[in-house]
Amino acid sequence: MSDCFSDFRSDTVTKPSLDMRRVMRDAIVGDDDYSDDPTVKKLEEKVASLLGKPSALFMPSGTQSNLVAILTHCQRGEEVITGKEYHIYAWEAGGASSLGGVIVNPLTTDEEGTIDLDDLKLSIKKGNSHEPTTKLLSLENTFCGIIQPIEKMRGLSNLARTHNLSTHLDGARLANAVVKTGNSFSSYGMLFDTISVCLSKGLGAPIGSVLAGAPDFIERARRLRKQIGGGMRQSGILAAAGIFALEHNLQRLNDDHENALFLAEKLSQYSSFQVPMNIIHTNIVFADIEPEKASAMHKHLEINSIKVNYPEQKKIDGKIISRFRFVVHLDINKEDINKLIKSSSNFIK
Ligand SMILES: Cc1ncc(COP(=O)(O)O)c(C=O)c1O
Repeated sequence: MSDCFSDFRSDTVTKPSLDMRRVMRDAIVGDDDYSDDPTVKKLEEKVASLLGKPSALFMPSGTQSNLVAILTHCQRGEEVITGKEYHIYAWEAGGASSLGGVIVNPLTTDEEGTIDLDDLKLSIKKGNSHEPTTKLLSLENTFCGIIQPIEKMRGLSNLARTHNLSTHLDGARLANAVVKTGNSFSSYGMLFDTISVCLSKGLGAPIGSVLAGAPDFIERARRLRKQIGGGMRQSGILAAAGIFALEHNLQRLNDDHENALFLAEKLSQYSSFQVPMNIIHTNIVFADIEPEKASAMHKHLEINSIKVNYPEQKKIDGKIISRFRFVVHLDINKEDINKLIKSSSNFIK
């Protein structure tokens, strides 16, 4: 625990370790806006090779990677199909539409976050002059910590390709899916034209995302990154943290997954919470509570030095519930998990 609070809000809250800070300090750098930074190049080559793509581009954030990807794939008035709760639609401030004039068509997903193949088929526009032109399918894996089955992703991607759509994967937490399933990064990479992966989530770097794809696509993406102010200078300092994260923090994601499962199993024993065990696949644990108790529980956890986002209201099986989300990461240890379990057990309302 870095301070007296145990922070379960997100895996983005991790702080760089001393060893990571050391490689950042010692990084060889240059001006990356002149393509002069060897450490940035090394990171881009490393991620491209992992994903089985020829080229990659370092970005400051996952949001920027996704935005640049969408705006490079789509022209104004063209449409991207995605999931209604996927990050690019729900949590990126509408950037693709407001900045790029791209129409985002959000499809409903099932409880595990998967888009239905028929829904996709019916949503692809046929090209008449009244409709936007469907240009891109964008999927997400993991979705809220839930692993999307690779066969289903292949089916969706194949369908999109049959209709001449481009395909993008928001793989902000793809590393969690890779470690949990044993599938390689490239087995996901081959299903999509472009992929964005984040270094600043479970992998523990302070900043950074990488977008991978074909060389001509990445060159166009570089120009777009520049247009939106994402051209960075001595960013090797940040890229060094990303390289360190990939080399040291990948396999340890297994610890987060084990801790998350342990936490979910314990919380499911308390009457205050309903825990949907079927959607706890990696490092994110959900626990549902009656909406009337949500505020008191949130306060109770805060008093017990536990930080967690205010629960989101959802309608499940016709009933409105409040869903807490506890994210497990490298700055959450067994002690933090036990503190949360104990605090939840003595919640009285
Ligand atoms: C699935 C997913 N995609 C993209 C992002 C955006 O990443 P960033 O916060 O680096 O912009 C997030 C952030 O949490 C995310 O969960």
